Parts: sequence; structure tokens; C-alpha cells
Amino acid sequence: MTGRSESAPSSDRVRPDVAVVGAGPIGLAIAWRCAARGLRVVVHDPAPGSGASAVAAGMLAPVAEAYFGERQLTELLLASAARWPTFAAELTEATGADIGYRTEGTLLVGLTGDDLAEAGRLWAYQQGLGLPVTLLRPTELRDREPALAPRVRGGALAPTDHQVDPRLLLPALRTAAQRAGAVLVPQAVRLLSDVDARVTVVAAGCGAAALTGLPVRPVKGQILRLRAPDGVAPGFRHVIRGYADGEPVYLVPRADGEVVLGATVEERSDTTVTAGAVQRLLRAGVDLLPELAEYDLVEAVAGLRPGTPDNAPILGPLPGRPDVLAATGHHRHGIVLTPITADLITDLVLTGVPDPLLAPFLPDRFVVAADSGGPETTMEGDRWS
Ligand code: GLY
Repeated sequence: MTGRSESAPSSDRVRPDVAVVGAGPIGLAIAWRCAARGLRVVVHDPAPGSGASAVAAGMLAPVAEAYFGERQLTELLLASAARWPTFAAELTEATGADIGYRTEGTLLVGLTGDDLAEAGRLWAYQQGLGLPVTLLRPTELRDREPALAPRVRGGALAPTDHQVDPRLLLPALRTAAQRAGAVLVPQAVRLLSDVDARVTVVAAGCGAAALTGLPVRPVKGQILRLRAPDGVAPGFRHVIRGYADGEPVYLVPRADGEVVLGATVEERSDTTVTAGAVQRLLRAGVDLLPELAEYDLVEAVAGLRPGTPDNAPILGPLPGRPDVLAATGHHRHGIVLTPITADLITDLVLTGVPDPLLAPFLPDRFVVAADSGGPETTMEGDRWS
């Protein structure tokens, strides 16, 4: 981070201003925004689009994902979700691409009385934060989505939680970044010293741990894709999420007939798909929406979310390395946090000054021991060191 002006000095024509490590949505959006501001940008990734976003459902859900004890994260999620309409419009304008951005909102449901009790505590917490969660009677729920199972006990509406299709978003971001002048280099970066740029942005998801020593760990998610028969759209239009006999589940309908059904949350680093997870997800999905039993099961896959000790992203300069910016650890929220991450990191590259919004998410909240030789961290009180 140099606080340089937007025009490049003539003595330094070849060296990139910014090297982004990672061509997922976060890295590409940063590359797009930086290149659009006149910076010379290269993006390094040996396998672009092979990370968590290739698996992600694409829910833009700051309200439904507002969870106990994560107030600052919720504020960042809300701020980023508020940028999504403009971000989506600018991306479509820059590329002509349909990114599957849909604004029907999210229905929150509980299948059984116990599910409703558990969900109700969370909805009350969310309402207490002033978030738009409106309780619905069972008849109101079914008026909105007649395909819901009759035995769904109750629910609520989160009208501002939307969706985008990450499998359309990613190529659109790649096109936008390249059209703005960013250069994609299909090579791995194994050490930060492999990179020669004024500023390096590490947006490598779980790979950020090995590069930076930051405490980013893989959190496995298994997820299914189903398809409505005969090429018709699914028989529901909201994102639906909730609990079915204790199983947290979400269902994301796409206009082309696809339904994304997810997801497990496992402290594992493999990407195998297990019969038990597929069974649990299908059972929960079909219990909420019986018509899914007639759909084609077209994909069962697992991805690795980049988790952090406090579930919040790590954004900003590494301690003692103002030339290396982290943009990682987005865990369950990479897609919704893409616009704000790109904007704040781009501003940081240009000004050298972290926006106040970044304060709770700076890397220095995790102090990495200089002689640890790697990403190991230890818990000390409620801080990691
Ligand atoms: N954001 C949904 C998930 O991580 O499964």
C-alpha cells in the first residue's frame, strides 16, 4: 500500500501496481475495480474459478445470516448487500452478462414445532437488531409459496435477502476485469516473494493461510444441485431456508430450473461427497418442498469455505507489511461481501488509509508469531495470537 496517485510514474511502466493472488469473485472484483481506476493489475491463479465460489449457492443473505454474537459482521454484510444492486447493474453494463441476480426475497421456515422454536429465537434476535423479518402465519406462508409442504409449521419473510448465480457471476467478473485491463496469469504463487508488484492482494481463500500465516481454515460444505423436470422453472420463487427436523437447510431456485440445496458445515478439509450428507440434505429438502422428489439430482459436490476464528473476513494490511493486503476469510459470505471487499480494498490500495469500516476486520486482530514458521495460532483469552 503506497498511497500512490492513480497515474503511474513514467519510470515504472512495467511493474504492476497491484498483483492479486486468487481469481475467485473477491480477487476478480478487486482486479476489476483497481483496473477501472487506472491501476496496472495482474491476477495470479493456476485454476481460476475452482474455489468455494464454484460450489456456492449465491445467497445474498445479511438478514438470514445475522447470527448471535456476530454484530460487526452483520453490519458489514448489510453494507455490502446494499451495494449489490449497483454492483450488479455495473457488472451487467460492463459485460452484457446475465448474472442471475434475483430479488424475490427469502422465506424462513420451520418444519416442526421444535424447528419453529429454534428458528423463532433467531428471528427474534434479528428483529431486535431492527432487521426486516416479518412473521407469517402458515396460510400467509403458503399463499406466498403453495409448493411448501402442508406440515411446515410456520415461517417469516426476509424481503431484502436476495440471490445471484455464482457460476454466472464469476465469468462476468473475469470479463469485466480483463476489459478494464487486468491481466490474468494462470500460475500459482507459492510465496509472497514470487510476486513483483507495488501492492499484493491475497484473495486466495483457504490458500491465504500458507501464503500469509493468517488463521484461515477450510470449512467443508456439501451441496446438491437438482433440476426441475421438462426444463420448467422450479415450483417456488423465493430462496427458502430454515430447519427440517433439526437440519439447517436452504433451497435456491434458478430461472433455468435448477435448485441448489445446501449445505453441510463440517470442520474438514477434504472434498469427498458422503452418502449420509446427501441423504440428510435430500430428506430435509423434500420434507420442506415435496415436489423436489420428482426433480433430477444433477450434482453432488463439496467445497471449502475459508473460515476464521471469529467467522469474519480478514481485510487489510498484514502486520509489518503495508504492501501486502489480505482479502480473505469470507467463510459463508464470500458472494455477498464481494462488492464491499472490492471497494474497500481498492480504496486502500489507492489511498493507503483503511476505511473505518475495515477496523473490525484488520489482520492485526490475529497476531501471527514471527517465528511460528507457519499459520499456527493459539487462543489467549478471547483473542488469537
Ligand atoms: N452461505 C451459505 C453457505 O456457506 O453454505
